[in-house]
Amino acid sequence: MDFEGFFEKTLHAATADATYVMKSMKVAFYDAKPYDEEFFTRQNRSGELDFTFHAFRLNESTAITAQDNQAVCVFVNDNVNRACLELLSENGVRLVALRCAGFNNVDLDAAAELGISVTRVPAYSPHAVAEHAITLFLTLNRRIHRSYNRVRELNFSLNGLVGFDVYGKTVGIIGTGKIGKLTARIFRGFGTEVLAYDLYPDEKWAAEDGIRYASLEEIYAESDVISLHTPLTPETHHLIDEEELRSMKKAPCLINTSRGKLINTTALIQALKDKQLRGVALDVYEIEEGVFFEDLSHDVLHDDELARLLTFNNVLITSHQGFLTEEALSEIARVTCKNLIQLSAGKPFLEGTEVER
Ligand code: NAI
Repeated sequence: MDFEGFFEKTLHAATADATYVMKSMKVAFYDAKPYDEEFFTRQNRSGELDFTFHAFRLNESTAITAQDNQAVCVFVNDNVNRACLELLSENGVRLVALRCAGFNNVDLDAAAELGISVTRVPAYSPHAVAEHAITLFLTLNRRIHRSYNRVRELNFSLNGLVGFDVYGKTVGIIGTGKIGKLTARIFRGFGTEVLAYDLYPDEKWAAEDGIRYASLEEIYAESDVISLHTPLTPETHHLIDEEELRSMKKAPCLINTSRGKLINTTALIQALKDKQLRGVALDVYEIEEGVFFEDLSHDVLHDDELARLLTFNNVLITSHQGFLTEEALSEIARVTCKNLIQLSAGKPFLEGTEVER
């Protein structure tokens, strides 16, 4: 990492005003929402960093707006490709700080070649996502989304709102990392049997929490609820497809808070039409870009599959909000600001946060 440019500018500024106060490091935020501004501004109480918040996304057309900034702070839908990075580099940017865990939207090879560091926040609050998965499931099972709307319309009828007792049911958890384990533990609290699957089973944890690892086939055949918690990899792309949906013998509730591409949407719609599923709750969707996180209430929805999903009364969709708790947002702001301050002080980034190709 080359900090020379930054320090030169800093020193010049300090000498010019005959003070020895270090100039704040300038950081441009993209795709910034009001909650980003709130939590990052709160974290930067001391004013060590100088933020500019842009509502638009970063890409090669907007990269010019990063001029005079030493760092950019981006989210999942900013497109930090080679052309964008070249412009950032020409304009003096030394760091791309992702305020999320995923980094598939940054060209890491190009960043390394241009000497631009890339950092992320690998874990902020697994509780936030696990609790959201449970919230989605309970809402779906007891049809709270429907009863809320009905009562507001003075429709106090209960027809079509029958759920099931969670107690005594079988839950399948696919992916037992940080979030999957917490979700499994909460489900155990309801008095369910939990079957788990992971490429790397943690038998000690399973024994302690009374959970049993099983094959995917057994999970599909035996579960009343299935919750997905694996990352998106070539192996997990369309993990749930036509064949898997057909093998779900108990018509389960399917919950996905992980990544949209784990489920083949076309196959999911067919399974819903064929009543192979009791219900589906999604916090993530195959093609989120341009839709999730945006207010399209005055616009047209161009995605016909998403539009079809929204017609099923047993489908519940939230817009990738699993992470959206005060604790998670505070942690994202804390880790990102710490890394920005480390950069300005010429010190190493926090352990485990730098993404290298
Ligand atoms: P983690 O890395 O702690 O756990 C992932 C687990 O999946 C690991 O145990 C790993 O062995 C397992 N795994 C990987 N490939 C697998 C495969 N092919 N088959 C079975 N298991 C496999 O990750 P963490 O923190 O639990 O997050 C899980 C996912 O949740 C993330 O990948 C992310 O996509 C999603 N997420 C969603 C958020 C939201 O707002 N909805 C926020 C944060 C994360």
